Amino acid sequence: MVHVNDGYLNLRAGYLFPEVARRTEAFLRAHRGADLIRLGIGDVTRPLVPSAVAALKEAADEMARAETFRGYGPERGYDFLIEKILAHDFAPRGVSLEPDEVFVSDGAKCDTANIQEIFSPDATVAVVDPVYPVYVDTTVMARRAGPPDAAGRYAGLTYIPATEENNFAPAPPEGLDADLVYLCSPNNPTGAVFDGKTLAAWVAWARERGAVLLFDAAYEAFIRDETLPHSIYEIDGAKECAIEFRSFSKTAGFTGLRLAYCVVPKALTGEGPDGGRVPLHALWNRRVGTKFNGASYPVQKAGAAVYSEAGRREVAANIAYYMENARVIREGLAEAGYRVFGGENAPYVWLRAPGGDSWAFFDRLLETCEVVGTPGAGFGPSGEGYFRLSAFGDAERTKEAVARIRTRLPA
Ligand code: MLT
Repeated sequence: MVHVNDGYLNLRAGYLFPEVARRTEAFLRAHRGADLIRLGIGDVTRPLVPSAVAALKEAADEMARAETFRGYGPERGYDFLIEKILAHDFAPRGVSLEPDEVFVSDGAKCDTANIQEIFSPDATVAVVDPVYPVYVDTTVMARRAGPPDAAGRYAGLTYIPATEENNFAPAPPEGLDADLVYLCSPNNPTGAVFDGKTLAAWVAWARERGAVLLFDAAYEAFIRDETLPHSIYEIDGAKECAIEFRSFSKTAGFTGLRLAYCVVPKALTGEGPDGGRVPLHALWNRRVGTKFNGASYPVQKAGAAVYSEAGRREVAANIAYYMENARVIREGLAEAGYRVFGGENAPYVWLRAPGGDSWAFFDRLLETCEVVGTPGAGFGPSGEGYFRLSAFGDAERTKEAVARIRTRLPA
């Protein structure tokens, strides 16, 4: 009889967001007609920007004519998109990359998970806790961590607590021993952002240790503070120790279209079995060429359109819309007596859950205010006692949610 991957058997219950959805649906079944406001999963609500829509339609027309039809594209992505990525996402920040260091894909969620494949099965992993659950769950699926303890800590996985004391953006702790470290900045769920000094400490640690930083910058477009880095490659030496992940989901509203990319610099190496240096770029390139046929042509055309002058203006307006929601949540809840964090350079507001039990607060918020959020415990042991509200909702509904919390559930 075939043996299953027992890593899957070590996973706790379901993935966080389906669990939130399950509880929400149960509430709705018991309270028919409830006027629910969803500020849970960070899914966008603004429609696709007009520039992207026009490009999609144009690409669909091209696909409809024999002379302009396109079949399989380059697995790594079309040059027309990669050129724009380099020119707009990196060059203005002083980062120069070669076009073939960029790998276009259909999502940062899959990229941050799939990247583990190019490392040795015994590579050890560390995460900043609380954390986007994908990094943890996929580490367990890859059998790089064992069963969880009562607090939900998986054996063999290193948790680096992100706390109020370290502004939810910890530097590498003394004696940290890990081969791969997931960093997310701006952070999901806390909304904290690494400053240049802390990121430089991470880069120095990784270079010294021979570790690789898996830097998830899916929310970089929400950074308002001009002193904060958007890319890890703004830090000297990062090309020798970091892979960066970006996404069109939250910036251009592509959660339903799917488009992302990651950067694997050619200078980045790992150790081979004979002790020699092996470029990780070659391994990832091999993996992408074998397992992926590229993001679809119309979606890449839409992605490229987002970088046009009009596209950038439209996307900036959407980001401003969400950041206004973040301000409304942050300030409204602070006035209601909550202790709030994040939401200034990120679309997530992180708050102390009154009572300390974050799932209990989830239920109370749902029952008292008919507002859905995400319990901090779902993001890891250090998330217990906290709660996340997403700024990706409709503006009027977000104001309504905050008004309800202020009147019905002040802290
Ligand atoms: C979240 O709510 O944390 C995100 O929507 C999850 C994701 O981007 O996959």
